[in-house]
Amino acid sequence: MKTIASKAQGRSAPTAQSREPGTAEGESLKDQLTQSMQPVSHALTLPPRVYTSPNVYELEKATIFSREWIMVGRAEQIPNVGDFFTSELFGRKLLIVRASSEEICCFSRVCLHRSALIADGSGNCKTFVCPYHSWSYDLRGKLRSARDIAMTSFSESKSQLPAARVEVWEGCIFVNFDLGAKPLAGQILSLTEFFAPYEFADMVLLPDYVEFDTRMNWKVLCENFMEAYHHPGPHLHLLQKPFPYTASYILDNHDERWSVLAMPNPAEEDQNLLPPIKGLTDWRKTGLVAAIIYPTTLLAFTGDIGIWYQIIPDTVDHFTLRIRTLVPLSSMQVEGFHQIAKTIREEFLRPLHLQDEAINNSVWAGLNSPEATQGRLHQKFELSLWQMNQWWCRHVGVHLT
Ligand code: FES
Ligand SMILES: [Fe+2]
Repeated sequence: MKTIASKAQGRSAPTAQSREPGTAEGESLKDQLTQSMQPVSHALTLPPRVYTSPNVYELEKATIFSREWIMVGRAEQIPNVGDFFTSELFGRKLLIVRASSEEICCFSRVCLHRSALIADGSGNCKTFVCPYHSWSYDLRGKLRSARDIAMTSFSESKSQLPAARVEVWEGCIFVNFDLGAKPLAGQILSLTEFFAPYEFADMVLLPDYVEFDTRMNWKVLCENFMEAYHHPGPHLHLLQKPFPYTASYILDNHDERWSVLAMPNPAEEDQNLLPPIKGLTDWRKTGLVAAIIYPTTLLAFTGDIGIWYQIIPDTVDHFTLRIRTLVPLSSMQVEGFHQIAKTIREEFLRPLHLQDEAINNSVWAGLNSPEATQGRLHQKFELSLWQMNQWWCRHVGVHLT
């Protein structure tokens, strides 16, 4: 089967050689990355230019976005055979379909004829019929008919829409454009263990979400999401009071491909609007947890809901962010549920992100300035950034030196 990544894998890695923000006189990118890879007690942040360089973004597409697992949705969005939804990732146009009770497929929705999109939005169907000249495809992306052209004249490779691998982890649908990639579950074992009390697989993704059109590099948001050190600044009332950064800590990720930021609530005040998630028995009942599965899957939990920050990057300096909520099925029976879910979205999630967006815009302006430099990381409260940076340097940075 043809893979969506085939073009990217064949390309030689681009390099970031031009003079760009954060390049001190006489200091090579290799020197800067070496600073990022020092032990956390004296490591520096990533070089500013790896956030701003279009060449580095192209390298990220070739080395991580095409080869790592990225969350695109939830299995409960497509419970019946033929249910589908569409998605975009790094400019790719994707179709995610339930092909059988046991199988979810992901393939390109760009028609093999003259590139019209064979589906949009979401729905249910038995075959996908291109709206242009009616070529039709089955639920696995195989060309089934082409008007007035004999199917025998198509080679195997010309009759299959480029496919990605799919893995469902805790109800989350992940795709990977590298058909030879290692399964995800075996790479996040201790994260799965940590998440177990949240009974994440049984949660339901709500259809309504908050969306932001975001003009910055995707890594700026991931870093912001993964530390509580900034709570006293932008979030003095919303987060610092219930979840003071001094109580936060970051888990040892055993060199796996994830980070977790734990934010206990020392006062143990229950701020949740919905019934508690049943499996929670410890500090997590009143605490907040943020997690990243590298590179771009951001998840969080309070004592009553799950939160998914869906990042959809398309260029080095732009991505769409959808902030989505998940709840246990039983919570949907609570009286006034839809109004409560709206309150959580509009009076907690939206204002919280607006506070982060303002500071992230400030960081983005700074990173694009020639004065931007690599900074020191706090070895306890920003350990997650150091963990992510080590992973990034091993997968992307290594191609830049
Ligand atoms: S572009 Fe799809 S059938 Fe012609
Ligand atoms: Fe924040």
